Amino acid sequence: MYNVKPLLRALRGETITPPPCWFMRQAGRYLPEYRKIRSTAVNFLDFCFTPELAVEATHQPIRRFGFDAAILFSDILVIPHGLGQKVAFKQGEGPVLDPLETSRDISKLDLSMVKERLAPVMETVREVAAGLDDSTTLIGFAGAPFTVALYMIEGRGGTEGTKIRRWAAGRTDEFTALMDVLCLATSNYLIEQVNHGAEALQLFDSWAGLLPESQFRKWIIEPNRRIVELVHEVHPNVPIIGFPRNAGVLYRDFVENTGVQGISIDATVPLSWAAKELQPLCTVQGNLDNHLLFNGGALMEEEVRKILSVLGNGPFIFNLGHGVLPSTPIANVGRAVDIIRGAV
Ligand code: CP3
Repeated sequence: MYNVKPLLRALRGETITPPPCWFMRQAGRYLPEYRKIRSTAVNFLDFCFTPELAVEATHQPIRRFGFDAAILFSDILVIPHGLGQKVAFKQGEGPVLDPLETSRDISKLDLSMVKERLAPVMETVREVAAGLDDSTTLIGFAGAPFTVALYMIEGRGGTEGTKIRRWAAGRTDEFTALMDVLCLATSNYLIEQVNHGAEALQLFDSWAGLLPESQFRKWIIEPNRRIVELVHEVHPNVPIIGFPRNAGVLYRDFVENTGVQGISIDATVPLSWAAKELQPLCTVQGNLDNHLLFNGGALMEEEVRKILSVLGNGPFIFNLGHGVLPSTPIANVGRAVDIIRGAV
């Protein structure tokens, strides 16, 4: 195993002490150096599609905290953009899309344009890969189909998924056509990222927890399984981390049926349950609560140590249960990393 990066070793099933560590949404607005370069682009997608800026944003948290992984700086909503849907990011509002409403809207999505429209992202991947040292892993990512479809159909976040759940259950053939398009676009996009230097991949299914079991199997497990299969047909050795957020006991079914090498768990998953039910099956990643990180102090420190003691005895990657919140004090992130590394 000599010369293999710690995060990749963990994803092969090794137990590493101290565990490799990175944080979801480790780049972004809590960093002053991000806010500074962010102000040079009006539109967030323009920022994502300017390799010089995206490369710099990817490196910023690595420089500051020495994380074991750099995650490509981009967004899950580049896929709807690549398919020709109108996507905008409004200040203080988040993403706003022209929502899909009819089967005609679905049939207008154009798979043939995705590769060209997302070419700048590949330039970013190539440049980041070339600039990383030999202990830092480059993680590529995409949104999983249900989560991306949620934004495409609702037109924004912060809903309860009312429209998507009705469409999936009521006009299932149409919805299946949309999920098929997303499976194809997403797997090709991830394969391209690996072609350009991504060493591991994460699939974000942030809204998986909205669905009851039968729908979860259909719209979460099955599409994630299919993407893992399609990517592994081309790149059999690239490890893939799944993140069906808020899946509860269904995390176990997800791991057993998708073929992922890692499972990222949200902060509500009990540690002892994850150690017993998930860690024998694959590498576990997680799950410090992002609000405890935001608050810092003794409660955060206690929680970090508890996570290390329960999950640190098996294959494990330290992470959060969900992304770093925008105004999280930088000192809290530094303190958490120091504890994880065993420095304090
Ligand atoms: O550091 C990293 O993690 C890399 C980049 C990254 C971003 N978004 C940058 C971003 C990643 C991995 C994502 C994933 C993402 N994007 C998810 C899945 C993870 C999760 O949080 O559940 C989702 C659901 C999105 C969609 C999205 N993008 C929303 C809802 C928002 C607005 C809310 C927010 O957090 O700002 C975004 C915008 C976004 N994506 C920003 C960043 C840095 C902020 C944009 C800005 O700087 O103005």
